[in-house]
Amino acid sequence: MLSADKLIKKYSSLTVVNDVSLNVAKGEIVSIIGPSGAGKSTLLHLLGALDKPDSGSVRINDIDVFQLASKKQARFRNKHIGFVFQFHHLLPEFSALENVAVPLWISGKGRKEALAEASEMLNTVGLELRKDNKPSELSGG
Ligand SMILES: Nc1ncnc2c1ncn2[C@@H]1O[C@H](COP(=O)(O)OP(=O)(O)OP(=O)(O)O)[C@@H](O)[C@H]1O
Ligand SMILES: [Mg+2]
Repeated sequence: MLSADKLIKKYSSLTVVNDVSLNVAKGEIVSIIGPSGAGKSTLLHLLGALDKPDSGSVRINDIDVFQLASKKQARFRNKHIGFVFQFHHLLPEFSALENVAVPLWISGKGRKEALAEASEMLNTVGLELRKDNKPSELSGG
């Protein structure tokens, strides 16, 4: 399902991701472990097509994501990739419900449908009583 080939990412003289290749099968759960600063987030950003490698490729469901034009790549990410960030990156003026609905609106769903789907997702994770709260009123986790 996910396949990375010879990924390299440098920040000026610092090579953070050095020739990483890996395969992940559908349904497989993988942990990436290493000390702080080892390059875990950088690698995840490459695997999720949030950042471009200096060289190497990432294929997700047989799509070579860095070969997609930028709009197509953004659409692919919106439809197929989910992230739980180290820092939450929520929009402070929006409620929990609206924050969850934003990617659905971006994908072209109507307001009502997106809010209904977002509401279901929050129920699934036990946040049914916190839908109308802003991020500053929620616990970190
Ligand atoms: N935008 C950037 N510009 C320059 N250097 C960066 C940038 N992003 C990350 N780095 C450097 O790359 C290295 C890897 O960072 P990264 O965030 O991937 O580490 P990490 O393994 O996720 O660490 P942590 O466990 O603390 O989250 C670090 O040395 C960091 O300082
Ligand atoms: Mg990190």
